This record gives sequence, C-alpha cells and structure tokens, in this order.
Amino acid sequence: VRRLLDKVIGASRKEKQIEFPSLPSDIEFDDLSFRTKRGFLAKKLANYLDLTKEEGDALYFKSLSNESYLASMPVEERFRLLELSEQMLCWQIGNEDIPKKIKELDITNNLKNAMLKAYDINKQKIFSESSVVSDGTKDLITGSHLEDREWSIYRDVIFAATQGKFLLISEHEIEDYCTGDIFCEGYVQTRPDIPMCRNLANESFIKLGINKSTVMSWLLVLSEALTNTIKHAEEGKMILLKDDEQKEYRFVIKDKGPGFPLHALPNATLYAGFSTKKSMGQGFTLMMKIAKKVMLATSPKGSTIILVFEASEEGRITNAENTSK
Ligand SMILES: Nc1ncnc2c1ncn2[C@@H]1O[C@H](COP(=O)(O)OP(=O)(O)OP(=O)(O)O)[C@@H](O)[C@H]1O
Ligand SMILES: [Mg+2]
Repeated sequence: VRRLLDKVIGASRKEKQIEFPSLPSDIEFDDLSFRTKRGFLAKKLANYLDLTKEEGDALYFKSLSNESYLASMPVEERFRLLELSEQMLCWQIGNEDIPKKIKELDITNNLKNAMLKAYDINKQKIFSESSVVSDGTKDLITGSHLEDREWSIYRDVIFAATQGKFLLISEHEIEDYCTGDIFCEGYVQTRPDIPMCRNLANESFIKLGINKSTVMSWLLVLSEALTNTIKHAEEGKMILLKDDEQKEYRFVIKDKGPGFPLHALPNATLYAGFSTKKSMGQGFTLMMKIAKKVMLATSPKGSTIILVFEASEEGRITNAENTSK
C-alpha cells in the first residue's frame, strides 16, 4: 500500500514542484517570528503597491530564508520592500515613533503611504506592546469606559460644531440607515476597482434619471470615500440605497481598515488639509460640502461612512432635456 501511495502521491508531487527557501538548521523561534512578520509586512506592501500576488508571496518566502536585509547593503531593488519592512520592525524594537520615521524617509510618497497604511492596519497585531504580551485582555478591559465617555463627547462636539451635519454613529446603528432599496453595489480591493465602481454608480444614476451636474458631484464624493478605503484601509465595499420613505439617497462605504483614531477624528473629518498620509486631506472637506449629512461608524475592525443626499434635490432630467440629447 505504501509503495502504491508513494507512486500516486509522488507523481502528483512532481507536477507541482514548489521551491522552498532553505532555512538554517539552528534557527530560533524568535528569529523565525521576526522573519515571518517581516515577510507578512513586505507582502502587504507589495499588495498596496499593486504588485502581483506572486510577487508578494515570493517576498514572504524570501523573508524566511534571510537574516537581515538592512545589514546587507546595498539591497537588491527587488528586495527593497523587505528592507523597509525590516526597518519598521527595528523601529518598533527601538520604541521609535514609526509614522514619523516613515515620513522622514527619502522615498516616494506612494511607498510612504503604503508603509503608513501597513503600520495603521497592523498596529495592534504587530506593532503594539500587546502583540508581545500574548494576553491582550488588559487593553480591552481597562479604558473601555473611559473610551465610551470620550467617544460620546467627540460625537456631541462634532455634531454641534457641524450644525448636525456630521454624526458619529456606533456599529449597531449602521443598519438603521441601511433602509430602502439597494440600486448599486461594488467592491474595492485594488485601485482599478475605483473607476469600475464609479462607472457602475454612474450607470445606475443615469438609469434613475438623476441630472448630470448632480451625478458629477455625487461621483466626486463617492470617489473620495472609495479612494479612502484603498489609501487608509482595505476590503472596501459600496452600497447605494434609495429610500423613498425618507426621501433620501444614501451611499454606504464600508471597509475593514484600522478605523479612525479617536483623537484625530475632529481633524481628520473637519479640518481641510489634514491628512495622516502624504496627501492633501481634502476628501472629507468635499464630502462635507456636497452631502446633506455624513455619518461615520469606526472601530479598529473597520469603518463605515454613510453619505446622505436629499432625494427631492437630485433634479430629475425633464422630458425636454431628455429628448434634446
Ligand atoms: N477609511 C478610512 N479608514 C481609516 N482612516 C481614514 C479613512 N478615511 C480617511 N481616514 C483618515 O482621515 C484622514 C482625512 O481623510 P481625507 O480623505 O480628508 O484626506 P486624505 O485621504 O488623507 O487626503 P486626500 O483625500 O486629499 O487624498 C486621513 O488622512 C486618514 O487619517
Ligand atoms: Mg482621502
């Protein structure tokens, strides 16, 4: 039976020859954990920079076999992401301010933004103290009351400062605003998905008879929210709803990113020109200008933005306008 099995398995093995990186025989657990984190980060960076999955995987496996990329100067260009990932981990070990360090690097803004995003999204998993201490319950239990109180203060202050235009909502309130008919849905995983979602939305707006200038401004704010899911988060989703009862259109944009940091919320959402990345910080300014209301639910598991528009103001194309085209 064994021989028979070897024959069958052996044959299928030969078809899929995978090259495994060779590991030193005396490798320690800590070394391996460092290499795994470095490879994980490099694979994330590759993904954010729109490299192929294979290129990301290759970096991950390569990370396992090499002790240091920082020490081996100059680093081959194709291993640059491993070097930068290692740099981030070394800053963490040295208790440095990682976002500040990233911003000081002499590299392109694209690369900086990818690193900032990898940091934001993996803050808890890789870069926090609790990632070292396996029992993270301390973080979860203490402070939650304080955070709740802080959260409601932020909600009230932002609501008042924006004359009721910007509302922080909690996770379980999201579904209250998802009433009505879904007329368009789309996913944003990579950058090219943004124009694809825009086109989907555009077609749906035209079908609904929304006038041209309204469509243009709606697409503009939608693009800002969708771009944010790529720039600051991952796994974005858009759901466009028409609620006849409330006479509202609502655009729901969800992501599975790191969430907005509570203390940066007023700046991030209300202060024109504020950005935690190398960017203009204009997205929210536009959303606030164009939408009737902006709602945001955010937690370390992800964010949901709901943009609300008046249905009566969308200005349907008149018949005359329609036939003149
Ligand atoms: N989906 C999101 N998840 C987490 N944080 C976000 C998200 N969207 C925005 N932010 C935070 O809010 C800030 C302000 O967003 P905004 O869109 O106004 O500016 P920006 O994206 O940084 O720059 P710009 O939109 O001009 O390119 C961001 O810098 C980021 O810190
Ligand atoms: Mg933006």
